Amino acid sequence: MKFQSADIGVIGLGVMGKNLALNIVDNGYRVAAFDLDAAKVSAAEQQALAEVPARGLVLKGFDSMSALLQSLSKPRVLLLSVPAGKPVDGVCQALIAAGIDSDDIVIDTGNSLWTDTIAREQSYKGKFIFFSSAVSGGEVGARFGPSLMPSGDKTAWEHIAPIWRAIAAKVDKATGQPIERTQPGQAIKDGEPCTTYIGPSGSGHYVKMVHNGIEYADMQLICEAYQILHQGLGMNAAEIASVFEQWNQGKLNSYLIGISAEVLKQQDPLTSKPLVEMILDKAGQKGTGLWTAVSSLQIGCPAPTIAEAVYARAMSTQKALRLQLSQQLQGPQTNIDAAQRQALIEALEAALYCAKVSAYAQGFQLMAMNAKEQGWQLDFAAIASIWRAGCIIRADFLQTITDAYQAAPQLDNLLQAQSFASVLSQLQPQWRQVVATAALNGVPVPCISSALAYYDSFRCATLPANLLQGQRDFFGSHTFERTDKPAGEKYHLNWSQAERTLVKIG
Ligand code: 6PG
Repeated sequence: MKFQSADIGVIGLGVMGKNLALNIVDNGYRVAAFDLDAAKVSAAEQQALAEVPARGLVLKGFDSMSALLQSLSKPRVLLLSVPAGKPVDGVCQALIAAGIDSDDIVIDTGNSLWTDTIAREQSYKGKFIFFSSAVSGGEVGARFGPSLMPSGDKTAWEHIAPIWRAIAAKVDKATGQPIERTQPGQAIKDGEPCTTYIGPSGSGHYVKMVHNGIEYADMQLICEAYQILHQGLGMNAAEIASVFEQWNQGKLNSYLIGISAEVLKQQDPLTSKPLVEMILDKAGQKGTGLWTAVSSLQIGCPAPTIAEAVYARAMSTQKALRLQLSQQLQGPQTNIDAAQRQALIEALEAALYCAKVSAYAQGFQLMAMNAKEQGWQLDFAAIASIWRAGCIIRADFLQTITDAYQAAPQLDNLLQAQSFASVLSQLQPQWRQVVATAALNGVPVPCISSALAYYDSFRCATLPANLLQGQRDFFGSHTFERTDKPAGEKYHLNWSQAERTLVKIG
């Protein structure tokens, strides 16, 4: 079968790379593919042929980087789907050795650290154009429509944009709802694509990193709701699944609530018990949530719920110690009156929504503060809109965020948006009821409670940092500003002298 020159090369045919390649051919482009594992190359080629035999050889595998490069039309576009870190540089070096040209475009689609991406763009300058486009949506997203967060050289973006818009998830322009695509060979021509140019090099990977930080928080919030229903109310997995399914019809509607209900309904093939009860309670992580928390600490942007979600995963891995301390440390008897059950479930739905708003507010403010430091002009309405479909945190709620930023692009924090401020004001008593009930019954809810503390901290015109500054000045002469003097004027009290005098330090 004849194969004409390819529109794009895909390097790395793991689940994500192969599915992106199949998605691209569904949309009418020809793909040249390469992987160090020859079996993966032929499997991808076979699958593309088998899925739609009539279209012929539209995905062809190559056994060397130079053969791959020769098969591509100019300027060449190469999509890398390899693990973040050293493998990205390994492939870039191999492409240089194989004769890549300075106007060719190499796109890193992995979850790379954003500062590595900035460094790579610089270090490969003159050899090829290093571009990045983080992908969200897991394997199904990659296959049938992910959310894509491209950033880097603007001309490179204009060159690849038609392919990116074609393969991205789509939302219905009128309803804002995702347009389902589930069949090989299918392509969706209308609808708004879930991709937009994010900004200069590194910005797309930063935005994807924060997406993942929010994802960590959102997942942990749902898990805490499960813990309250399970440990606090003694509900079984099937009962909790039906509560989640009901919530999924309301304002909590999201992919993550939907899959949580699916997981809870699943029976274990080995024991016939609910599978969730047979899954060991030790959470894994690849690092993007940690990077988000670290970035928030470095910038000084409060993101406690995202950080707590990372800590919750770390706490989960301390299984042996938890087993030991569960026998040693005292707590209250769980004692929730059965008569309160329905009211608590309703309060939990409200609390989960409020905590979710709080966590997203943290993530969006973090992006805004880092963008300011980096000199990026991020469009938050556009970012929220490309998360409405395709990605892991997709939810109806992203439309409300899109609307909030469309109405006020310069919002410092989502809590300022009236659409959120009024709902949180109305629901906060139930949020408090849930946190209090959890605390009184010894159910740990680090994310739901930290999200409430974040909300309450912003409600405080005065925080106890006045006392803290006094403490700092007392032991270290660290100075303080005064409420009655201009900002920036520093004062110190001579705490150690008999007569404590106030000194203006500049
Ligand atoms: C996505 C996911 C994806 C991946 C995470 C999992 O947006 O498609 O976030 O990037 O599933 O990397 O991360 P952890 O292994 O850290 O949970």
